Amino acid sequence: MAINLSRRMMLTGAAGASVISLSACATKPVAVAAAFPPGVADPFLLGPKEGVALLSRNENPYGPAPSAIKMIEYAARKGAFYTSSEASDLLVTMIAEKNNVSPEQVVVTTGSGEVLSAIALIYGVKGPIVAPRLFWDTTALYAVKLGMASITRVPLAADMSVDLAAIEAATTPETGLVQLCNPNNPTGLVSDAATLKAAVIRMAQKTTVLVDEAYIELADDPAGNTCVPLINQGHDVIVTRTFSKIYGMAGVRVGYSISSAETAEKIRNTAMSWAPSLSTAAALGSYNDETFLSFSKSKIIEARQMVNATIDTLGLKRLPSQTNFVYFQSGKDANEVQKAMNAKMISVRGQYMDYAGWTRVSMGRIEDVERFCKALPEVIGA
Ligand SMILES: Cc1ncc(COP(=O)(O)O)c(C=O)c1O
Repeated sequence: MAINLSRRMMLTGAAGASVISLSACATKPVAVAAAFPPGVADPFLLGPKEGVALLSRNENPYGPAPSAIKMIEYAARKGAFYTSSEASDLLVTMIAEKNNVSPEQVVVTTGSGEVLSAIALIYGVKGPIVAPRLFWDTTALYAVKLGMASITRVPLAADMSVDLAAIEAATTPETGLVQLCNPNNPTGLVSDAATLKAAVIRMAQKTTVLVDEAYIELADDPAGNTCVPLINQGHDVIVTRTFSKIYGMAGVRVGYSISSAETAEKIRNTAMSWAPSLSTAAALGSYNDETFLSFSKSKIIEARQMVNATIDTLGLKRLPSQTNFVYFQSGKDANEVQKAMNAKMISVRGQYMDYAGWTRVSMGRIEDVERFCKALPEVIGA
């Protein structure tokens, strides 16, 4: 007898259901046992379902780069074997070279989620994780759920930027970790570079400061805004990055941290696994693919300009994003906006905390973003 799994079960699992709004658009059951191989029977087993504009998860549908896919194909044929240390070391060396650090300072993991989870476990037991009220809190919450951390959330400034002065005031030598996200998610805002670096340096005298730079390559000036240089100046700073965003490899799962060699060793000892060979190969293939990276960024900026123009024309307030998502005040309840968009097979993010009037929309394929822009006036009743 065929086993039927709903696509919601397959794509969200038990834990992910709260953030993935695909479920409302996914009704058709997938016959798993009846089809072999299942992917041939259902081309939408992975990725957005047919007709769905997936604009809720900050993915980049223009990836993976052809250079990454070529390496994935090669690696698939070597899938019988564990990731080789040669491949892992090569990726670490490439990351180290590009960031002017030594290979001992780099830890590569299965998505940056893994390295961020390890960091939350290491520092969460020491004291509270001090963070802005809105940030990508999934991995800090992972440690909280295990009883190994608590989060001290510091209110945002009036303009929704990270209130660095308030975070600094909340930081003491008993703080386990200061966790910042630059650019921040869900606001998309970049902190002023000089203010951020000065504050990070002062806070790092009291405790370890983590800067999650998942979206930094999408910022207007990545080199001017990254906190990586502070590490080699001897400050107690960790920076994390991912291949899930500009590289368009969210499902491939590669991320990394840069820190002092001593901190990197602690992180390495706490990470739960190692990057699979297919993921490592994909990262090797595309890490320095500047043609793809600039193509990717240009598509995201093109989409963002369309979204910004639509929001501005409607006279709504939006934050000036430097990422692949825009956070805007629709004047309607965010969960209602999500529901109305879902009815049109458009998936946007629902409400964050008590920010009821704010909706986050991710950039996606231009044609999908066009659908969002067309739907928005009707959805908000403009
Ligand atoms: C700010 C930020 N950091 C980290 C991640 C985790 O990314 P990944 O585990 O795919 O590297 C996300 C995912 O959306 C994010 O928004």
